[in-house]
Amino acid sequence: MLVGGEGTRLRPLTYGTPKPMVPIMNVPFLARTMERLYEAGIRDVILAAGYMPQAIVEYFGDGSRLDMSITYVIEETPLGTAGALKNVEDKITGPFFVLNGDVLTSLDLAAMRRHHEQQRGIGLIHLIRVADPSPFGCVVHDATGRVSAFVEKPPKAEAPTDEINAGTYLLEREILDFIPAGRNVSIERETFPQVIAVGKALYAYTTGDYWIDLGRPEHYLAAHRDVLSGAMPLAVEPGISGEGAETLRGHPGIVVPVHAGADVVVEASAVVGPNVVLGRSCSIGAGAIVRESVFWDRVSVGAGARIDEAIVASGATIGPKARIGRGSVIGHDVTVAPEEVLEPGSRVGPSAKITPS
Ligand code: GDD
Ligand code: MG
Repeated sequence: MLVGGEGTRLRPLTYGTPKPMVPIMNVPFLARTMERLYEAGIRDVILAAGYMPQAIVEYFGDGSRLDMSITYVIEETPLGTAGALKNVEDKITGPFFVLNGDVLTSLDLAAMRRHHEQQRGIGLIHLIRVADPSPFGCVVHDATGRVSAFVEKPPKAEAPTDEINAGTYLLEREILDFIPAGRNVSIERETFPQVIAVGKALYAYTTGDYWIDLGRPEHYLAAHRDVLSGAMPLAVEPGISGEGAETLRGHPGIVVPVHAGADVVVEASAVVGPNVVLGRSCSIGAGAIVRESVFWDRVSVGAGARIDEAIVASGATIGPKARIGRGSVIGHDVTVAPEEVLEPGSRVGPSAKITPS
């Protein structure tokens, strides 16, 4: 699993939490992926990490709690999406999955493996169709699935197809021979094009699964909406769900769907929802309005504050009567002053405002 990226597009959230540990419905995203691997019968996982690996190691340890074996390989300098694989070559003994660490999908890995075993190419790439392929890797293939071109992030007008690399590969060990050692190598820009150029059979595996790359704040919020609506199957009860659900049932200000962690406190006159996820020990003051937002743990919202379409990291405090504009992202332990007004799209980090990239 490739989890070495810095998560720059999710800043300031990723100043305090590496992208794979960003929670989905109050559980680190990577734990969701581990479950999917487990269900497909996979027990051995190598995490190619680099940015803030401690947080990952602390949570998963050697994997025994999950009945899995997890090996960490930390890159001093980023080796890129193929260099990271070359770097663990001595730990790979046969065909292996490669997963981008920021993709939420319902893809069935066991079905993908069966497909690969029939086709016997050097690799199989999971594809999905999207409306705008330009921010992704575009993959062109023939009717048999054989890939003829891989074009990473083309300009919008030049995208050759609407089928994109969905960030899950099943590869034969032989592909490692195409990756030079000791430098940064991109699998998308170098290795796949080279494998195609020498005539090796690389195949596409297109599915209609739920799929989203969580790497941007608006996608992160969309993923939560999709889990709450059931569009992304994650076994969440409809209406009010989560460990804190009992305390919220019968509350007049809850607009479903709402998901809440343990020990949440919502004052009687507050309005929470729709599409709100509250982390553990969040508190929402009297008359506050929180819509379409995801809060991590211990977020405190003062009386009369209004928050719409925002992501708020752990320990942040929103002062009474503050207004948080749509699309804002508030970092760990940030305090927004009473009556402060944040413009739409604000990103407020631990010590200063950050210009969105
Ligand atoms: N170990 C390691 N080392 N991991 C890395 C490195 C590195 O140097 N660089 C990136 N990663 C990890 C990231 O943490 C992430 O999980 C994954 O590789 C992909 O990197 P992103 O930075 O998220 O790439 P992207 O989203 O712009 O594009 C990739 O994903 C798209 C699908 O979401 C490409 O694979 C596209 O072709 C693809 O369509
Ligand atoms: Mg990504």
